Amino acid sequence: MAKTQKTEPQTIPFVGDITKYLENEAPAAIRKAIAEGDKDDILSGTYPYDREMKGKDYARQMDALQIELVKMLYDFRNTGKRLCVLFEGRDAAGKGGTIERVRENLNPRSAYIVALPKPTEREATQWYFQRYTDWLPAASEIALFDRSWYNRGVVEHVFGFCTPDQRKLFFRQLPDFEKMMVDEGITLVKLWLNVGRAEQLRRFLKREKDPLKQWKLSWIDVEGLKKWDAYTDAIRETLAKSHSKHAPWTVIRSDDKARARIAAIQTILNRVDYAGKDRTAIGKVDGKICGGPDLLD
Ligand code: ADP
Ligand code: AMP
Ligand code: MLT
Repeated sequence: MAKTQKTEPQTIPFVGDITKYLENEAPAAIRKAIAEGDKDDILSGTYPYDREMKGKDYARQMDALQIELVKMLYDFRNTGKRLCVLFEGRDAAGKGGTIERVRENLNPRSAYIVALPKPTEREATQWYFQRYTDWLPAASEIALFDRSWYNRGVVEHVFGFCTPDQRKLFFRQLPDFEKMMVDEGITLVKLWLNVGRAEQLRRFLKREKDPLKQWKLSWIDVEGLKKWDAYTDAIRETLAKSHSKHAPWTVIRSDDKARARIAAIQTILNRVDYAGKDRTAIGKVDGKICGGPDLLD
């Protein structure tokens, strides 16, 4: 006799927990924004645009930027230049999607993503920066860091994964660590993607419903919702302590993903010289959504 088909859906961790948070715990203003916003609304009261960028405008600019990225990497083959880009930001700020757009037309052998898991037991006993240095670019390479050593400044602090002394030491060593990279000849670009609270929650709710994106949810995301203010403090402190002349931050307001992806690629291209660089194709960076740490809200 044939076995009965198992009809119970496979349990996916954390799915449902975001909706529960929205219904039971989210601040009233956030609930209201989500209930009222339509698909193209930007759910941040202070964002300088009401609507998302038009698809046609995005495609036109993005196509030109993709060609510049390919030219840049091609030039790296001749010059041996090394580029390291850090993508940082709150959960669901759009790090992963932005990285994909940077990388999509590049040779994966030279332009690679570094997305390290939480430190192993052994790594946790090493010098904090040690496991990251393995992944720094060699000649003609671009390393795209999906999160980075900045975990110690923000998520590790907010969740208590490091001690206050470890974090203090991190901030003390950080300027020298980054200075060494820059002196070494590596171009270091630090991007901070900033997302508003309602927009973050809306993205989590979408992920919860999307079988292709559910894997992106973790208990950190669920618990992190309740720690918005602790994150805000940790982010402000971290950027204040690590925004330096040799390794400045670029903050990108990422409530509109299209504008943010364009600004991120423009920022990268503006930081390096390469044969055939076309400044018109790169275009002007939108200063309303892309600038220094004063753009954090
Ligand atoms: P992501 O948003 O990168 O998909 P998570 O939201 O689950 O992943 O985790 C956020 C970050 O916190 C990750 O970089 C992860 O490695 C880190 N992290 C998770 N648990 C620990 C831990 N116990 N100690 C240090 N870092 C951790
Ligand atoms: P709070 O804003 O006080 O609710 O803190 C949010 C989270 O950050 C809690 O889980 C705390 O354990 C954690 N936290 C607060 N201060 C520190 C610290 N100095 N080091 C590590 N974790 C901390
Ligand atoms: C992002 O969208 O910022 C990344 O996918 C990381 C995440 O949200 O966990």
